[in-house]
Amino acid sequence: MISERLRRLVPYTPGEQPQGREYIKLNTNENPYPPAPEVFAALSGFDPAVLRRYPDPSASRLREAVAAEVGLSRDLVFAGNGSDEVLSFAFFSFFEGGRGPLLLPEFTYSFYPVFCDFYGIPLKRIPLEPDLSFDPRRFVGEPSSCGAAFANPNAPTGIGVARREIELLLERYPRDRVILVDEAYVDFGGESVVGLVESHENLLVVQTFSKSRALAGMRLGFAFGAKPLIAALEAAKDAFNSYPLDAIAQAVGIAAAKASAYYREMNRKVMATRERFSRSARNLGFRVLPSSANFVLASLPARSGRELYSSLKERGILVRHFDIQGIRDFVRVTIGTDAEMDALLAQMRALADDRAP
Ligand SMILES: Cc1ncc(COP(=O)(O)O)c(C=O)c1O
Repeated sequence: MISERLRRLVPYTPGEQPQGREYIKLNTNENPYPPAPEVFAALSGFDPAVLRRYPDPSASRLREAVAAEVGLSRDLVFAGNGSDEVLSFAFFSFFEGGRGPLLLPEFTYSFYPVFCDFYGIPLKRIPLEPDLSFDPRRFVGEPSSCGAAFANPNAPTGIGVARREIELLLERYPRDRVILVDEAYVDFGGESVVGLVESHENLLVVQTFSKSRALAGMRLGFAFGAKPLIAALEAAKDAFNSYPLDAIAQAVGIAAAKASAYYREMNRKVMATRERFSRSARNLGFRVLPSSANFVLASLPARSGRELYSSLKERGILVRHFDIQGIRDFVRVTIGTDAEMDALLAQMRALADDRAP
């Protein structure tokens, strides 16, 4: 009864959302701070009578609010049910169809290869640099590709790419193929290229409210691009589900879009905690990659990543381990509150001492 294609597909594995024991949860890059007060007000003021009707299928007011925040017009913005859905529509709209492989960095968001499998898109992984950073200009030498996608800052390394590097890629890569830049973590110190979509018709920038606007549970994701790209995403959406964003999500999204000052301050706190945590972890003997995101990739010499993950879990702290050649030695740690990171550092100190001869 199950299709051959689905039986061959290896689905994405989301991070654990434990339902029993209480953990310090640092495994899915959620924000440790609450959404803006405006979000609470939008929810408590929401009139359930509105739910009788279908929501606005094109989320016009939400797109307008989000567009205003980044200084673009509404017709350059697409809204979807979390950026995973937006990415899925984008892979279908721009990369499907046998025009050569899609270029991805060797390590990047592990959902991209799943979308490729789902839509039958061949992919080609481009190596990272020895320090695990990624140079997007490496895509330039691959003209027979159908497009390129990468996260900036990258996941799970947390390492960002400068805007200028992406400009150089855009100048040299074929203009008739889409370059997708996933800016899920850009508000934690990355350099956004959203301002370039007006001048580069093959650039699609994807963002989310899940991380820097503390709304992972609401499922709000966006794409920014030239009108034909946004129209294509609208068509893909309408071929799948005309109403991916319910009325509550649209109301909450508008409130969150207008609360940028609150979120800037909150994310500044996350970044300060990240820097303090990274310094302390390095002092304990951990290797910590430089991050512009709300997580860091860390390893402890002579301990495997799997061991680190399991020992921390036993001690009540959930981090993420990727069983992938090249980053197997690391765990990915989401930046929590200062108190959560202090609790983690105490356990990391114990693990580092254990290792000492
Ligand atoms: C790089 C990257 N892109 C997109 C997403 C998806 O975010 P959401 O679907 O919650 O918007 C994630 C989530 O972890 C991510 O790490």
